Amino acid sequence: MGKVEREFLNRANARNGEFKAPPFLPRARTKGLGTERLDGERYLTHEFMQAEWRHIWTKTWQLVTRVSDFDEAGYFHVHELGKESFLFVRGEDGEIRGFYNVCQHRGNRLCQVDIGVLETFTCPFHGWQWHNDGSLKQVAAPEFFPQFANGVPAAELGLPPVRVEQWGGWLWFNMDHDACSLREYLGEIGTHLETYEFDTWDLIDYQTFEWAGNWKHAVDAFNESYHFAALHPDMIQFGEGHDIPIELWGIHSRMLNFNRTVSELVEDRETMTPLRSRMMAGRRSLTAGSPAQVAKDAHLKEIAYRRSIEEQTYLPFRFMNDEQLVHQYHYTFFPNTTFTQTPDGGAVFRYRPHASDPAKCYYDFFIVVRRPPGSAKMGRPPHKIHSNESGPVDYAEAFKGTFDPVLANVLAQDGSNMATMQAGVASDSFKGMILSDQEIRLRHFHKTIDDFIAGRVSTHQLLPADFYLER
Ligand code: FES
Ligand SMILES: [Fe+2]
Repeated sequence: MGKVEREFLNRANARNGEFKAPPFLPRARTKGLGTERLDGERYLTHEFMQAEWRHIWTKTWQLVTRVSDFDEAGYFHVHELGKESFLFVRGEDGEIRGFYNVCQHRGNRLCQVDIGVLETFTCPFHGWQWHNDGSLKQVAAPEFFPQFANGVPAAELGLPPVRVEQWGGWLWFNMDHDACSLREYLGEIGTHLETYEFDTWDLIDYQTFEWAGNWKHAVDAFNESYHFAALHPDMIQFGEGHDIPIELWGIHSRMLNFNRTVSELVEDRETMTPLRSRMMAGRRSLTAGSPAQVAKDAHLKEIAYRRSIEEQTYLPFRFMNDEQLVHQYHYTFFPNTTFTQTPDGGAVFRYRPHASDPAKCYYDFFIVVRRPPGSAKMGRPPHKIHSNESGPVDYAEAFKGTFDPVLANVLAQDGSNMATMQAGVASDSFKGMILSDQEIRLRHFHKTIDDFIAGRVSTHQLLPADFYLER
C-alpha cells in the first residue's frame, strides 16, 4: 500500500457505504490471472485483426457521440469503425436510428460528409434516395430494372439498421441484434458512473489522432499508471500513479489515480510549486478557501471543502464518496471506451482499429464538462482529425483552450510509444510481454479478447460482475 493511500485511509469518510460507487479503499482483492507472457502476434497479424472483427467489434456495444448533438430532425452523424461506416440520424419522428452507411444499389458509401442535417440521403453515384428514417424514398429510373417490374421492393431496400441505445447522454450502437442490452452490458460498474449525472454534461472538444500502432497498444497505454514515473515525470508532481488500486469487474475494469497529491516517488512532497499549484487547482477550479500549503495533502483539504458545500453546490458531491470528490475514477468498458472522471469534468477516450492495417489505430478524445444550471448550452465542437500524413501533431496547439498544455504533452508522450511498441513487439527476439500486478488490467483485457474470440464469453453470456473480484 502506497503512502498516499495510507494517508487517505487514515481520514476515510465513514459515509462511504451510502454511495452508488463503492470506493476503492480499502482495496478489494482481485483474483490473480497468472504470470504468463503476453504474445506480440496479437498486435501484428491480419488474422488476429479479422478474429477481433468477427468476435468483438461486430458484437460489442460501441460509443458514438453525445445524444444532445441530435438536436433537430434530420441531424446526422457518420461514424467509422474498422472497415464499416455507420450513419446515425434523428428521423422526422424524433427517433435516433443507426444504419450501415451503404447505398443498396451498388454499394457506394451513401453519406460522404461527417455531420449535417438532411431529410433525404442521396447517393452521389446514381441518385438513389433514402428518408432519414432509413426507408427507401426512390430508386432513380426504376423502369430500367427488370427486377422491379412488379414494383420496387421498398422494405427490402431500406438501409440495414444497427441497434442504438442511450446511456449517460451518450449514443451507443451494436451491430449484433441479439446482444444483451447496453445497460446489461455496462453492468454494475456502469451504475457507479451514474453518480456523475452525465446527461447534464456538454462536449467541449472532440479530436481524433491517427496513431502508428495497433489499437490495443493504445488501450494498454491508458489502462495502467505504472508508466507515469518514467514517461510522464510531470504527472507525479501533482498526482500519484504508483501502486494504485485496480479492480476487474466482469469484462470491464477500473482504477483510481490519486489527484492533488505528490507521488511517493518524489523526494519533496511538500512544497507547493507553481506547477503543483496550477495542476491541483484543476482547470475548472472550485476555490477551496485558503490554498493547501502542503502539496501532498491538497486532496484532503479539497475533500473537506467539498464536503462542507455539498448541500449548496449543483455538483453531485453529496452522492459521491470521498475518493470521487477529488480523485480520478478511471473506468474502461470492454473493448474500447474509457471514462476518466472528476465531479465537474472528464475525458472520454475511444480506441478504434484501422480499416485494414493492424499497425494503425485511431485514438478519439472527448472532453466533457458539467455546465452550471441556468448557463447556456455550449455549442457542438468541430471534430478535429489529425492524420499521420500531415506531419507531427502539436498537441498543445490542438488542445488550446480546452486542456492544460502539461496534460496535452502527456498525450503526446503516450502517442509517441505507439510506433515504437508496434516495431518492438514484431522483433524476432521478442519473447512476449512481462506484466506486473499494476498492469493487471492489460492481462484482463487481453484475456477477455481471447475469451470472446474463443466463444467463452459473449454479449449473450456475460461474466458476473464479481467474477474476478473478491469483495
Ligand atoms: S451506387 Fe448508389 S445510386 Fe448507384
Ligand atoms: Fe500515459
